[in-house]
Parts: sequence; structure tokens; C-alpha cells
Amino acid sequence: MNGTAARFGIIYMPPPSKQPSLRNLGFLDWITNDRIALKCLVVLEGVLVMVKKKILITGVTGLVGSVIRKSLKSEYEITGLDLRHCEDVPTLIADSTDLKSILPAYEGVDTVIDLASEPSNFASWEVIYENNLRCTYNALEAARLAGVKRVIFASSNHATGMYENDNPYVKIVGGQYDGIGAGRFQRVTTDMPIRPDGPYGIGKAFGEAAGRFYSDEYGLSVICIRIGTLNKESRPSGPRQFATLLTHGDLSRLIRSCIEGPDAVKFAIYYGVSNNKWRFWDIENSMIEIGYQPEDDAEYWR
Ligand SMILES: NC(=O)c1ccc[n+]([C@@H]2O[C@H](COP(=O)([O-])OP(=O)(O)OC[C@H]3O[C@@H](n4cnc5c(N)ncnc54)[C@H](O)[C@@H]3O)[C@@H](O)[C@H]2O)c1
Repeated sequence: MNGTAARFGIIYMPPPSKQPSLRNLGFLDWITNDRIALKCLVVLEGVLVMVKKKILITGVTGLVGSVIRKSLKSEYEITGLDLRHCEDVPTLIADSTDLKSILPAYEGVDTVIDLASEPSNFASWEVIYENNLRCTYNALEAARLAGVKRVIFASSNHATGMYENDNPYVKIVGGQYDGIGAGRFQRVTTDMPIRPDGPYGIGKAFGEAAGRFYSDEYGLSVICIRIGTLNKESRPSGPRQFATLLTHGDLSRLIRSCIEGPDAVKFAIYYGVSNNKWRFWDIENSMIEIGYQPEDDAEYWR
């Protein structure tokens, strides 16, 4: 037992002879630590108990954070960390560039979803340098200090954005499909070299490298998701997004797969994209390794 907090949902059916004692319930810590199940129903001394994993979302009030928070809050015990107040989950208001001030949010957490950052791919190097690099590094360091098992890092397709200057991707993002068979070309895989398309993409590549270090050096499980396009409307706007869209539903499915994926996944990079007819990012590794099964295709809105 390393002190990771188990959280208890419903408790019912105590046999009259054995009323539950809260001290006994501490026994469930090891069950959470072993990641037996998303929602673990356990009979303990005649008591049925539901255990929920404890998930911290940094940047919880943002667009991605709001989608994840709303779709997963019945399954997990969710807390947040952000510069702003959050309506519906307990949230520490703190600046992720300040390690000391964010540490309390990480205590007792099973999995961190690290979203806190400036999300514009047009952000200047100064903003990336002052904000994003420090937010990302501090999230990993705080997770290590608190004994968190897994960090899911919001990387970006902009870590490899320069592939979009090459054929056939350049045509696909422009909506020019003549002579190209959908899916009948080499998709960009996460084994291919990084090719950031600006300071924002460089910052995300830095996060992936830092995650690799924390995994190799400290045994922290780190999963980097190179998110495609997640927008408010959850539908494509413009030709590029027919390839790059990640719908709200598929984002939730992917995050759930990352949380529940086997402990053996110590470090991984996956593209976060729906099963779009014209997608040019490969998602086979996430389907095989963590069971991601996207259900949406941007073509539906053509
Ligand atoms: N939306 C997309 O299509 C997309 C694509 C690729 C990657 N991403 C990544 O996903 C993450 C979330 O993006 P989003 O679209 O929800 O952006 P967003 O701007 O809506 O949310 C970002 C959140 O991070 C918080 N934040 C920023 N700096 C912080 C700091 N120093 N300390 C604490 N909190 C801070 C903000 O307050 C905000 O709530 C980002 O890391 C972004 O780079 C998003």
C-alpha cells in the first residue's frame, strides 16, 4: 500500500450481524492501487462497496477539460486544477508554472490528465517558454512527488505538423482528393520522426520527451495524446477538419482507454483522432495497446 486513496461510492447490504466499520474499508487501498477495475465492486465483511479511481484534470475548465469532466464524472472521482474556478468539480485554483502551489492537488491521485497550457498553435515562443514548458514539466514532477501512477499528457498534432507540407497530406488538408484512395496511403505513425510546425509544436515535443524521461527514470506511466481538432461544435469546419476531427464522444472513449489501459503501458504516444475516412494519422497502436475504438467519422457531416 502506498497511500493512494481509495474512494468509496455506494455501500449497501450490510448483514445485520456485521455492520461496516470505516477502519475495515481502508483495506481497499490495495485494490485501487492494482487497478483491478474502473468501478470495483467488492464484498468486504458482507458489505458491497464501489471504488472509483481518483482523476485529476489540469486545465479542467477549458474546452477539452470540460468535455472530459462532463462525460466521465459519473465513472471517476474527478478533481481539477486551473487558473479559474470550476463549477462542478472540486478544483484547486493555482498556476501550474509554480510547482509548490500545485502539489496539494496531486496528493492521493491515481491518474492525472494534464491539459493546462496555452492551446494556440500561433502562440509565441515567449508564451510557450514562460507557460507551457513549465506547466508540462511541473505536472510530471508533481505526479512523481505524489506517487501518481499515470499521466495522460495533452500533446498535439502540431508536434508533427510539417508532414502536412508533403503529399498526399497537403492535398487532403486542402480537400483535394483526386487520385488519392482514402486510407490507401502511408499514414503518419507515432514511430515517425517529430516535425513540429512552430513553437507550440516544439513545446509539445518537449512534453513528450520529458514524459519519456519520467517514465524511464522513475517508472511513471506516461501516455501522450497528439490531439487532432477538438472544437466546441464537435463537427468539422473546413476541409482540414474532415481529416483531423476528434469528436467529443471519441475523446471520451480515448481518455477512458488511457485511464483503463494496462499497467504494462509505461510510455506511449497516440494520435487523438476520430475514425475519419480521410484521416492521415495512424491509430492502430492505440487500438491494439489500450483498446481505443473510435465510433465517429467526420464524413457524416459532408
Ligand atoms: N482543442 C484542441 O483541438 C487541441 C488540440 C491539440 C492539443 N490540445 C491541447 O489540449 C489542452 C487543452 O486545450 P483546450 O482546447 O481545452 O484549451 P483551453 O484554453 O480551452 O483550456 C486550457 C486550460 O488550461 C488552463 N491553463 C493555462 N495555463 C495555465 C496555468 N499556467 N496554470 C493553470 N492552468 C492553466 C486555462 O485556464 C484553461 O482552462 C492543451 O494542452 C492544448 O494544447 C488541444
